[in-house]
Amino acid sequence: MNTYIGIDLGTSGAKFLLVAADGSILAKNTQSYPVFYPHSGWSEQNPADWFSAAMRGLNELLKGQDKAAVKGISFGGQMHGLVALDKTDKVIRPAILWNDGRTEKQTAYLNEVIGREKLSACTGNIAFAGFTAPKILWMKENEPENFARIAKLMLPKDYLAYRLSGAFCTDFSDASGMLLLDVKNRRWSQKMCDVCGISEQMLPELHESYEVVGTLKGEIAAELGLSAEIKIVAGAGDNAAAAVGTGVVGEGGCNISLGTSGTLFVSSEKYKEDKGNALHSFCHADGGWHLMGCILSAASCNAWWSDNVLQTNDYAKEQAGLEEELGKNDVYFLPYLMGERSPHNDVNARGAFIGMRPDTMRKQMTLAVLEGVTFALRDCLEAAKKNGVTVGCTMLCGGGAKSPLWRKIVANVMGIPVDIPQTEQGPAYGAAMLAMVGCGEYKTVQEAAKAIVRVKETVLPDEKIAALYAKRYKHFIKLYPALQSVFCR
Ligand code: XUL
Repeated sequence: MNTYIGIDLGTSGAKFLLVAADGSILAKNTQSYPVFYPHSGWSEQNPADWFSAAMRGLNELLKGQDKAAVKGISFGGQMHGLVALDKTDKVIRPAILWNDGRTEKQTAYLNEVIGREKLSACTGNIAFAGFTAPKILWMKENEPENFARIAKLMLPKDYLAYRLSGAFCTDFSDASGMLLLDVKNRRWSQKMCDVCGISEQMLPELHESYEVVGTLKGEIAAELGLSAEIKIVAGAGDNAAAAVGTGVVGEGGCNISLGTSGTLFVSSEKYKEDKGNALHSFCHADGGWHLMGCILSAASCNAWWSDNVLQTNDYAKEQAGLEEELGKNDVYFLPYLMGERSPHNDVNARGAFIGMRPDTMRKQMTLAVLEGVTFALRDCLEAAKKNGVTVGCTMLCGGGAKSPLWRKIVANVMGIPVDIPQTEQGPAYGAAMLAMVGCGEYKTVQEAAKAIVRVKETVLPDEKIAALYAKRYKHFIKLYPALQSVFCR
């Protein structure tokens, strides 16, 4: 049977999956690399680290496997990162990541001076600090020598595809997050290139996520012991790839991801814009579109609280017995450790515990962290509802979805059934599915999803607990406005 490789270029590491055409997983591994925080609110990575992780990961993945069966490779990638290459293909500076908040000034310039209306007309979106265009403006203003050297601009997963195949390409879903794409018409926006002072020649060639963009370079194929005929398929931003991996394609499906970031992703066959500007309006990897709310810190809040503060990585032990407390906690947590994207668009927002009493124990604080992240995602659901979107149930994926407690919290805070996919491999699985479509194994992404994706378990909301959470959510939404002036620098 033919096999396909899916690579998820994440923030804490890259995940590699070898998947057979019937969807069964044959091998997997994860390779980590560092994130650098050179200043408060900044976050950067070295693209060279991604490439060496890819070579390590692919070598390990293929050990003992039938290499002749591998037909295609595709990607899901952390979105919005600015990767700039000079004319000799040298990386000019470390990549500025999706959760970097240095562009407050440039974001305000885009929204206030260029104007939200013009941005929406050109791209379907307003500016958020993590998007790529404000980072280009930041580089222009703060590193003019680096800016003058730019020959190519690309996104993280596209850098990997470029190193592996030599194809300078991107896909519509990931390109949507640059604020340079006319999302409705699936083409670069010349007006936005002018605003950023770049030319369209600096931007990668645009493709659908399931299109073949090239083949493996001869020397890389030789190093991995693979055929140089192996097809490289464009891939998608990690959220669109995760949605493909959970079968959220076509009209009206919802996927919630609890990864480093948290997202609520609603797929659509038609182009839609969020009039309230809280959600992103992006292309999907299935040829359609999606609305997405993104919170910058999700499972990373639990990692911060458990690993750094409680000094334990035994999350299951920490969460044991907390089911009895669902809906009753009176501690609140604001999950804005890296500032917030949806719906507040505020780089200065920070995390906070509120409502502690003398008898508050670590258990209530642990629960508050999981609840606070989920309330922030409920903000995204409410924003979607304001656009007339109905969400009757959702898929759930990402590291946080492994926690049975968190699954229940999501079902009860959102008040909808939560489906857990059979394969919890997120973007890497979706990427392998895109490779299958690119190589002709399935005709469309929708067909691949129908054939491969299965639900393992459904978690239903409990009427009483959901009612308690509905009350608590009313209090939660008052907290950020009350603290906003304290967060302001
Ligand atoms: C989405 C976003 C994050 C990153 C995480 O807009 O910024 O979900 O893609 O990798």
